[in-house]
Amino acid sequence: MSDRSGIFTGENPFELARSWLTEAEVSEPNDPNAIALSTVDADGMPNTRMVLLKEIEDDAFVFYTNYGSVKAEEIEATGKASFVMHWKSLRRQIRVRGTVTREEGSKANAYYHSRSLKSRLGAWASHQSQPLASRAALMAEVAKVTAVHGPNPARPPFWGGYRICPTEIEFWADGAFRLHDRYRWVRQKGKVEWVVVRLNP
Ligand SMILES: Cc1cc2nc3c(=O)[nH]c(=O)nc-3n(C[C@H](O)[C@H](O)[C@H](O)COP(=O)(O)O)c2cc1C
Repeated sequence: MSDRSGIFTGENPFELARSWLTEAEVSEPNDPNAIALSTVDADGMPNTRMVLLKEIEDDAFVFYTNYGSVKAEEIEATGKASFVMHWKSLRRQIRVRGTVTREEGSKANAYYHSRSLKSRLGAWASHQSQPLASRAALMAEVAKVTAVHGPNPARPPFWGGYRICPTEIEFWADGAFRLHDRYRWVRQKGKVEWVVVRLNP
């Protein structure tokens, strides 16, 4: 029923997202994998911030953060999140809404250990989203964790991934005179089949 063609072709939205991201890696000046991640607080007040998408799995999108952060608190309370990635160079966006679970196993360890030593120690030093007295206080914390954890720190128990398993993914591409192309992929909870609908711009 769908008239998809060109850049929208394909039967697997994760493969499609990967192929758009691969194109963006060539055309974007930096951080083609940056996503604006939204959560809501206990009052339903939305909250959005950028994070880096680290993997597009066969059924999920994965990013890493501090489990003590505001975003983590909101994700743990609701089990839900949404994000958008937008590439100015391609004039395209992908929107995702879904349920969220932690990635704190071997994949999180592997990703943590792939990072530079300074970043690994930074993860130990930052009490993300908590008040900080000064830059000097942060650097003192870095010195402290460096002395404690040495040259091969383990992944902090309060730092790891989140896996967003989508119920909806929308692919959008700029069209002439604002007549953009939009395709929304939807699946019922627990179902594997996607239903794709073309939307008005
Ligand atoms: C381009 C960009 C990428 C970022 N990537 C991450 C990331 O991968 N993980 C993360 O925890 N914060 C990342 N940040 C910082 C977040 O935007 C945010 O400041 C921080 O995670 C605290 O958010 P919270 O208080 O809502 O939890 C990034 C910021 C920018 C601008």
